[in-house]
Amino acid sequence: MKTLAAVLILAAAATAAGAQPIEARLTVTQDAAGPRIEPTVYGHFVEHAGTGVYGGLWVGPESTIPNTRGWRNDVVQALKRVGVPVMRWPGGCFADDYDWRDGIGDPAKRPIRRNRWWGGLESNRVGTHEFMDFAEQLGSEVYLSGNMGSMPPRAAAQWLDYMTADDASTLAQERRSNGRDKPWKVKYFGVGNESFGCGGNMTPEHQADLHNQYATFLWSAARVASGDGEGDDNRVEVLMKRSAKQMDALSLHYYSVPDNWTKHGDATGFDAGAWARTLKAALGIETRITALSTIMDKYDPAKRVALSVDEWGTWYDTPAGASALWQQNSLRDALVAAATFNVFHAHTDRVKMANIAQMVNVLQSMALTDGPRMVLTPTYYAFDLYRPFKGATPLKATLQAPAFSTGDVELPTVQVSAARAADGKLVLALVNLDPDRPARVATNLTSAVTGQVLTAAAMDAHNTFEHPKAVVPAPFSAKPGPQGLVLELPPKSVVVVGM
Ligand code: AHR
Repeated sequence: MKTLAAVLILAAAATAAGAQPIEARLTVTQDAAGPRIEPTVYGHFVEHAGTGVYGGLWVGPESTIPNTRGWRNDVVQALKRVGVPVMRWPGGCFADDYDWRDGIGDPAKRPIRRNRWWGGLESNRVGTHEFMDFAEQLGSEVYLSGNMGSMPPRAAAQWLDYMTADDASTLAQERRSNGRDKPWKVKYFGVGNESFGCGGNMTPEHQADLHNQYATFLWSAARVASGDGEGDDNRVEVLMKRSAKQMDALSLHYYSVPDNWTKHGDATGFDAGAWARTLKAALGIETRITALSTIMDKYDPAKRVALSVDEWGTWYDTPAGASALWQQNSLRDALVAAATFNVFHAHTDRVKMANIAQMVNVLQSMALTDGPRMVLTPTYYAFDLYRPFKGATPLKATLQAPAFSTGDVELPTVQVSAARAADGKLVLALVNLDPDRPARVATNLTSAVTGQVLTAAAMDAHNTFEHPKAVVPAPFSAKPGPQGLVLELPPKSVVVVGM
């Protein structure tokens, strides 16, 4: 038995060692490939769903879990490290059933509501003041998601006034009497969420007219119209035609699902087919961005209206007994994140904001918590690796790399992004999507590079409370040889380097 096991291990090692590298060629030029990468494309989304807020982020000031005015110190510290440029809250679907008045004033007197979309009861213990404190702790801009589905326009307008007025108006006085003297800054305001579905099941025409009505009363923030999330070009066309003047941004929601919306697929324990299907789905975001951009260009050639990908990420099946939308997060998710960032970098003319769904314990999260314990996910580390890209200017990069096939799914082996960082450095991000073969990327560059690599032995490698370092970045460096700089990427890896 022992001998057979040893033989099998050796055979596996020989196969891995013997896997022929993919040969690729990368040419980077100094030409800017678009406007700068807005730091806000590295934004986040926080919804009152499952343990995404209660437990995951908020434990309350009275908790024994270390916190600052109720917000978990461990999570805040980790998020501050990668930086949270913008946060969208309180939904999602939750937003169109939310009355902001439920979340202000004495916490003991706040109403308890049913969480219509994600189950359980909403205590409203986290409301406007608490959320804004969280944003201030993180140093994040705020993107409020307003209710167009079930509240009148006056409610949305008054929420904004309550938060931002600096005068003697009754709403500003009410904010002061609730403990906040200085007005807050609210940079973005969402005019409904998924109006095609949970936000009201509206026809595009009805939504466009309602959008115009609501947007008329929202003065002090950039107004984000709820756009596409189901591959419906017609809705985008109608919204742009009828409402472009009344919006500053239009949203796209895009989820990557390995199987389908009935049976999404597992977050771990998947095979090479599910690996390939998930990454194929993730790369498909570029098709939607291009389609929306084309329609937007028709009605807004000056590109005044931004495209906000304000929900994106993987969506797997929630295991039995787990809180709503909870899922494990593996190396595959890190590659989805990296490949998606590279797509955003290629569309900076329109994509000015993006918000991964969601921050903690929900869908493709940064961290998972269980009582006092917290573990950072591979997706968190993808955000960490890409920090140099915030505010960088994308450069033209041409990659010649073969494709690979798994079943009937064909994928590029390597995907890339290059940019001139704010500090003048050239930064490169490369994703090797092939789970089996390393990639040898010859470049036209001649300097040494240093950076980090994120990889692991298994496709579904993930961090747990017991083993929090199964997928963490490792140092990566390369020096130019006689043929210039050649980068050797491990199979299934993300490499970010600078020079
Ligand atoms: O992120 C989970 C849900 O996905 C959001 O509430 C909704 O907007 C989308 O359908």
